[in-house]
Amino acid sequence: MTDEPLVLGIETSCDETGVGIVRGHTLLADAVASSVDEHARFGGVVPEVASRAHLEAMVPTIERACETAGITPYDVDAIAVTSGPGLAGALLVGVAAAKALAIGLGKPLYGVNHLASHVAVDQLEHGPLPEPVLAMLVSGGHSSLLRVEDVTTGVTPLGATIDDAAGEAFDKVARLLSLPFPGGPHIDREARSGSSVAIDFPRGLTSRKDLERHRFDFSFSGLKTAVARWVEARERSGEPVPVANVAASFQEAVCDVLVRKALDAATDQGIEDLLIGGGVAANSRLRAMAESRAEPLGIRVRVPRPGLCTDNGAMVAALGAEMVARGRTPSALDLPADSSQPVTSVLV
Ligand code: KG4
Ligand code: ZN
Repeated sequence: MTDEPLVLGIETSCDETGVGIVRGHTLLADAVASSVDEHARFGGVVPEVASRAHLEAMVPTIERACETAGITPYDVDAIAVTSGPGLAGALLVGVAAAKALAIGLGKPLYGVNHLASHVAVDQLEHGPLPEPVLAMLVSGGHSSLLRVEDVTTGVTPLGATIDDAAGEAFDKVARLLSLPFPGGPHIDREARSGSSVAIDFPRGLTSRKDLERHRFDFSFSGLKTAVARWVEARERSGEPVPVANVAASFQEAVCDVLVRKALDAATDQGIEDLLIGGGVAANSRLRAMAESRAEPLGIRVRVPRPGLCTDNGAMVAALGAEMVARGRTPSALDLPADSSQPVTSVLV
């Protein structure tokens, strides 16, 4: 027997219906049903389509997770759910399912922040989080630098994107290059056979003047426009677009800025551990660059494996288990889904 909490976590903030089951820091099941194929032809996630897909996938995904973990819902100590931020209709499906489970089973319910969950998930792979840890979250919806004292209570934003999220930039540039949605993994793959120095794309918010006001903020829309102009000029001149070189040079520009700012923030805050999470953390160049540049600064880098970086239920269960372990007060059963839940609100 163990007294570590057994927690079922539900994630529905975007297009993945995720149900994860953890015991303390041990991952028992991570069932994900994605509606990404249904959005592909639109080049982005369609909220109504995502909500409907969550509704259809919810019960089978819960069943699959319980089967994999070898438990029944009656065994769990608590239910955790993403209450925000995310797509309002999509969040509502997860929150409603979690409330139904919590009420039906008579278990406590924790409505948790999606971004903090991206941080907490690393505990399933690398053990307890260093405190404080500098977290860089880069996904399709967010790019932020956070000082995390205690993932259950204390998250302080240091900077964020002022326009496109990093993953959004990957997806938009992939589209320009006629690569499928979501574009990140395709750019990553194409870039392997391209040259990262072939084209000198701009590094947003890194000029001396920008650094005065936006030292830890990001901007990727100028980069996206620069890639679009470059590709258009090529097409106008009738020359083929060197997809691998554009992908590699674009990826280098994104990773360069992300890593530079993350390491600057860690150094500024006197923090020796950098955690990278969110879908873009699955990027192979970002992982390699962060490690090689952090090492001489004495900064350790933690990145969960790619499957735990993209949205999933295990991350929500991981944060829920931490809430239980640290004795946090469960959420009220009428907790709302909050599409713009601030990162400072870790538990509602
Ligand atoms: O965290 P996530 O699954 O969902 C959101 O909360 O947004 O992140 C999805 C994003 C997409 O924009 C996708 O293109 C990007 O993560 N992504 C990647 C890679 N794998 C996924 N971006 C760059 N390189 C990758 N290997
Ligand atoms: Zn996410």
